[in-house]
Amino acid sequence: MRGMSPPEEVTQEKPAWSDSELTQNPHDAQDKAKKVEDMFTSIAHRYDLNNRLHSMWRDQTWRKRAVKLAQVTNRDDVVDVACGTGDLSMAFYKSGVRSVLGIDFTQAMLDFAMAKATKEQMDITYRFGDAMDLNLPEKCADVVSIAFGIRNVQKPDLAFREFFRILRPGGRLIVLEFSNPKNCIVSFINSVYTKHIMPVTATLISRDQSGAYKYLPKSVETFAEPAVLAKEIEEAGFSAIEQHAQTFGVCTITKAVKI
Ligand SMILES: C[S@@+](CC[C@H](N)C(=O)[O-])C[C@H]1O[C@@H](n2cnc3c(N)ncnc32)[C@H](O)[C@@H]1O
Repeated sequence: MRGMSPPEEVTQEKPAWSDSELTQNPHDAQDKAKKVEDMFTSIAHRYDLNNRLHSMWRDQTWRKRAVKLAQVTNRDDVVDVACGTGDLSMAFYKSGVRSVLGIDFTQAMLDFAMAKATKEQMDITYRFGDAMDLNLPEKCADVVSIAFGIRNVQKPDLAFREFFRILRPGGRLIVLEFSNPKNCIVSFINSVYTKHIMPVTATLISRDQSGAYKYLPKSVETFAEPAVLAKEIEEAGFSAIEQHAQTFGVCTITKAVKI
């Protein structure tokens, strides 16, 4: 864990994602990981507020559903990867599991997660780390979760293999990620909202100059759709894959098991 300095707003001189870069597929950027870290450093101080407002208070419900699908017991050790400000880690903690470890590579997000856990008196461990190389022993976890994180990882297939490695037999992988709604009317409304309204309001709220809220809809549009993600998860060794669309398909929870 790096320093425990109090969370504060970080201003950046240069956008992580310029408008011209976002005309391309952001997942192809060689320096995507660096850009993602810069972007989350820039928006960390308003991340939770923007999540609540722009999901119309649905985001915590999606996380609770993710926890429910994991079917946890009080003997389970949970590793919440790309934990950000810790909302999913906290939801797992509240479910009564044995331990929760949150891992993220953006220190500014972790600082908020740690401050929240301290305030709520939750015994959650947060640690700096990379989803593709977690620096954890084999078979040390019963649940690995990643919410709105896999889309931001440079090489999702490497991360899935790493999740498989650290899970014990019978362990569950839970992936919560945005998806593109199938219904054409919902898809149209969602597209107007995420591409034209949310980028303006979320950018204003976080006084963001990193391009984070322009990257968001572009990165969702160009990311693997649920069926492709399921295939990647299967290729990493997982079985019993199930997918649950949430709120008209604006996001999907994927559950998979290491047999
Ligand atoms: C959209 S936030 C999601 C945070 C949290 N899981 C939630 O439910 O709100 C994405 C997080 O993924 C983290 N992230 C992206 N790539 C990562 C990687 N390779 N390793 C660790 N964290 C990563 C970012 O730093 C950021 O905090």
